[in-house]
Amino acid sequence: MDILSIRNLKNSLQIILAGTLFLGSVIQATESTKEIMLENIKSNRNDREILARLLPIVKCSFAPTQYEQILMTGLRDKETQTKQFRELTNKLAGLLISKVVEALSIETFEIDTPLTKCKGYALDAPIEFVSVMRAGDSILETFMEHFPEASVTKILVQRDEETAEPHFKYMKFSPAITEKSRVIITEPMIATGGTLCMVIDLLKQKGVKEENITIASVCTAPEGLLVLCKKFPKISVVMNMMDDYLNEQKYIVPGLGDFGDRYYGTNQ
Ligand code: URA
Repeated sequence: MDILSIRNLKNSLQIILAGTLFLGSVIQATESTKEIMLENIKSNRNDREILARLLPIVKCSFAPTQYEQILMTGLRDKETQTKQFRELTNKLAGLLISKVVEALSIETFEIDTPLTKCKGYALDAPIEFVSVMRAGDSILETFMEHFPEASVTKILVQRDEETAEPHFKYMKFSPAITEKSRVIITEPMIATGGTLCMVIDLLKQKGVKEENITIASVCTAPEGLLVLCKKFPKISVVMNMMDDYLNEQKYIVPGLGDFGDRYYGTNQ
């Protein structure tokens, strides 16, 4: 067997192993398979990409573009000041929008150009935004510029300082949310996925179908994606980038620190 065939065989075995581990986590989701998966994700970029592609909820490429990498570098740099942090966030949010639209269903119809007839495209259902304050509001601004007609639901979740349990502190729902709406949740950082699980449960209670929910995120941790994938296998997630892991303080690593504090300039 020549070197190339051995390499191909190794790659195929890696894919089968990765697929087996992944299916194991979705079907049985035992703690040990999850741990092995996470170790694979953290330790080997190739495995990480294979596994990532297998995650059914993620509806975009796991490989960030060079432009996204450059913009993220600015967000990650601890010397970046508020003004520049906001500008970079707005640019990344702009790139996220086309990924969100790719994850939505569209309808086609015929239009007349000044020259001929051709195919036209439009989203097949109205969009609703859900922003989890405060960080969710940061990318919401850019999303609203692109979809100015969409209603916005705002939700505030806060942790009880004594028990550390998250609780809803405020919510104002759009009356236009129906089971037909395509709901986009703006959440720049998917860390543990805990708050998002609460919000998705709430949306489902309001009649929103899981398959009509898309989370738009700048930076995600594999741990949070796995939690979401296990609990809500029909949702969609699009993101600029997946990072390596969550540290003990539940910060994304390498990450960028506290997104809300850096965006709103409250980190001094
Ligand atoms: N939220 C943040 O702002 N940063 C993290 O690293 C994780 C959650």
